[in-house]
Amino acid sequence: MRLKDKIVVLTGAASGIGRATATLFAKEGATQILSDIDEKGLNETYKLIDDNAKARTKIIIVDVRNQDEVKAMIDLTIEKFGRIDVLVVNAGVVRVGDVESFPDSDLDLLINVNIKGTHYTCKYAVPYFKKQKFGTIITLASVAAHIGQIAHANYCSTKAAVLGYTRALALDLAPYNVRVNSVSPGATDTPMLQSDVAKQAKDRGLLYEEVKREFEQEGVMGRWAKAEEISTGILFLATEESSYMTGADLRLDGGWVAR
Ligand SMILES: NC(=O)c1ccc[n+]([C@@H]2O[C@H](COP(=O)([O-])OP(=O)(O)OC[C@H]3O[C@@H](n4cnc5c(N)ncnc54)[C@H](O)[C@@H]3O)[C@@H](O)[C@H]2O)c1
Repeated sequence: MRLKDKIVVLTGAASGIGRATATLFAKEGATQILSDIDEKGLNETYKLIDDNAKARTKIIIVDVRNQDEVKAMIDLTIEKFGRIDVLVVNAGVVRVGDVESFPDSDLDLLINVNIKGTHYTCKYAVPYFKKQKFGTIITLASVAAHIGQIAHANYCSTKAAVLGYTRALALDLAPYNVRVNSVSPGATDTPMLQSDVAKQAKDRGLLYEEVKREFEQEGVMGRWAKAEEISTGILFLATEESSYMTGADLRLDGGWVAR
């Protein structure tokens, strides 16, 4: 088991990539604090975790936009386990639309969850990482941080921010023996991507399947990733198999950027 005795904190665990990562990490022996804003989804994730691992899994409702809630999650982890070995900063949202009609409320949401939420999650964990002098942080950037996507200007900018944040934090924490890396998934079959495609189809007067096909053709592999194919990359960054990686981005994009 590659994460035996490791203490993991993971945000956005109620769905998609977060759920796949939580279930994989559970199989790999991790002790986990799983959080999300979505209580129902979080309970479903918990049910998917095999019975042996349930005893080392705790779920907690956290809105990453709320500093008090994020702090409580980190404090709880330290109180119960005394340390954090792996922090997976996964919670995120997408909003799609042309810039001229993009609602301010959607822009605020993107900034508050993707940028500020990433920062708050790291902010409250960093003092413990510095003190313990080990650990690894994994953020979720995106292929959208590397290329432009139609009708995604604001999503792309928030994910580019995550990439920059990750690189800079890696420099700050390197003297403390703490590694910080990001993962950049391409089109991954989760509720997020499905809602993104549905919205684009509606806005452009196309069928869902037509927009889906466009996304599938973006990578050279001609298909979407399964969430499990992203979680294995996150696992790699969580273990000592990636011991010489920091400030790096692991692109799991089916060849999208290579095209
Ligand atoms: N699916 C893709 O194609 C894709 C591609 C690149 C990057 N990503 C990134 O991967 C991460 C996971 O995305 P996913 O595809 O699994 O999406 P998803 O929508 O399936 O899951 C995201 C989770 O984040 C949670 N969340 C949203 N706002 C929150 C908040 N304020 N506080 C706490 N939790 C909150 C949601 O409830 C949900 O459970 C995101 O950061 C996303 O931007 C996804």
